[in-house]
Amino acid sequence: MCGIVGYVGKLNAQNVIISGLEKLEYRGYDSAGIAVIGKDGMNSAKFKGRLSVLAKYLEEHPIEGTIGIGHTRWATHGVPSDENAHPHFNKDKTIAVIHNGIIENYLELKAMLLEKGYEFRSQTDTEVVAHLFDFYYDGDLLQTAFKVENAIRGTYAILAIHQDSPNEFVALRCEAPLVIGYGNGENFVASDIPAVLEYTREVAFLENGEIAHVTANNVTVYNTKKEIVHKKPFTVEWSLDAATKGGYDHFMLKEIHEQPQGIRDTINNRIDGKGYIKLDDIKLTKEEIQKFDKIYIVACGTAYHAGCVGKYAIEKLAKIPVVCDIASEFRYRDPFVDNKTLVILVSQSGETADTLAALREARRKGARILSITNVVGSSIARESDDVFYTWAGPEIAVASTKAYTTQLVAFYMIALTLALAKNTISERTYFMLIDQIKQAADILEEMLKDDTQEKEVAELIKDKNALFYLGRGVDMQTAKEMALKLKEISYIYAESFAAGELKHGPIALIENGTPVIAISTQEPMIEKMVSNIQEVKARGAYVIGIASEGDNLISSVCDKVIYVPKIDDLLAPLISVVPGQLIAYHTTCLKGLDVDKPRNLAKSVTVE
Ligand code: G6P
Repeated sequence: MCGIVGYVGKLNAQNVIISGLEKLEYRGYDSAGIAVIGKDGMNSAKFKGRLSVLAKYLEEHPIEGTIGIGHTRWATHGVPSDENAHPHFNKDKTIAVIHNGIIENYLELKAMLLEKGYEFRSQTDTEVVAHLFDFYYDGDLLQTAFKVENAIRGTYAILAIHQDSPNEFVALRCEAPLVIGYGNGENFVASDIPAVLEYTREVAFLENGEIAHVTANNVTVYNTKKEIVHKKPFTVEWSLDAATKGGYDHFMLKEIHEQPQGIRDTINNRIDGKGYIKLDDIKLTKEEIQKFDKIYIVACGTAYHAGCVGKYAIEKLAKIPVVCDIASEFRYRDPFVDNKTLVILVSQSGETADTLAALREARRKGARILSITNVVGSSIARESDDVFYTWAGPEIAVASTKAYTTQLVAFYMIALTLALAKNTISERTYFMLIDQIKQAADILEEMLKDDTQEKEVAELIKDKNALFYLGRGVDMQTAKEMALKLKEISYIYAESFAAGELKHGPIALIENGTPVIAISTQEPMIEKMVSNIQEVKARGAYVIGIASEGDNLISSVCDKVIYVPKIDDLLAPLISVVPGQLIAYHTTCLKGLDVDKPRNLAKSVTVE
């Protein structure tokens, strides 16, 4: 959601900013813009549509200068349009501002500014910030930034430049992420690390309420009391390659193929010499674990689906009741959370606004907070008591794949750790499951060598209007995630149902030729699944089964079956989700749609 890049240094700012914004395209956006200060003052360009529209314009009308700010916008206030695209300016275009987030008191500020004679060109909340900078400006950009910060309320990552101080820019942060990239004779501020990685590996995140004053040779960070904060930059270990397509047609396909490695990286570094799980960033003691009487798992989107599988794993292995909740609902329903509750937040980005708000609500109620996230130093990681980092590497495609499977691994490992501490599992089962999680990586690697069957299914469903996924037990959770993948990127209406619930309503949707994908990996429920498949077949459905190798019952009732290798029932979601990911991917390619950047969606949702 909204990408931000600011640069000051020795290079052509336009090029640095456009290449930085390209690395942030995954966040989702609908317009793009830039402002650069050169010898002839402030120059800018902004357009509705893809970043390539802006880049092409700049190729033909280059802007000179070594300081500038650039933005990709995901519309909240005001439709996607050239006027609403960022940067926003003061009246005489000496100040340029870009913003990610929402200024909650913008109406009040706008009324005040209108009264003072300011005129507005856009429908955005952001434009008030540009005029506020103008209103408070007294020749000192940093002091002006302090005043602006005092006046605004909401969530924001803001960058501002002023034509009269062409060697500096300011960055303000509250809830929306901003990372400083420290260069040599040049400095950067961006929404995420990939935007600066081509130029520097030394980075530090800004905290809420902090303001960075950035020049080519210096970055000084201040807290709200205007005291200097001494940041300790850290070195990014992963390479830029990890954030590029590396020969694949799309990020999503690359990330699907990175799943075996993601699983290995997530588990292998966390096994000690005796084969036990060792969770370095989780400080929970055996006594603390034994004290928990319930667990809440809270997340959004795909991370929520991983949490739904996590519930099965924890309840089955550690015998602790688990409630799995959607983050945007959790905080408003006064959940039963106290100091005997463990709240597990799941978030690939670690920045999702609803999940962060849920974390704070859980903290207020006295819970112990454990987060599962993929981004080191993200807001959710920083505000948690304990963190489990999924080592999936950067995930760029909006449709999450490798983050999901590594989140599943995280849940299995957490469930095993809780179970061992509570003596609810035998050592034999404990080691068997660890072994099978590791094997899952090899199994996936083999499976990914051939996607012919998924391509065939894509051909079958590409022109359909609707498709249903069925499953029982953990397979039902896999069905949810598969349906989400298909609808997110192919725009085919896809829904998932508990197979046993079909006859209570959803079966009314089945008509001649309706495609149904039935997932059946759970040994004790195969016969029940067969009955449910018969029920939809009798009403004309075309059924594609996803079943474990060696299961002949399912194949006898389906029109087509994709077999996945047999693994422990509890771990099955780790591998059975992959055909669903590939079916969604190939269907979208066949429809000629934008796989990595689906319409209306954002990778990192930093507004509630
Ligand atoms: C957005 C993304 C989803 C993601 C969800 C939660 O909706 O498009 O792919 O699952 O946010 O994101 P998080 O970073 O918290 O896992």
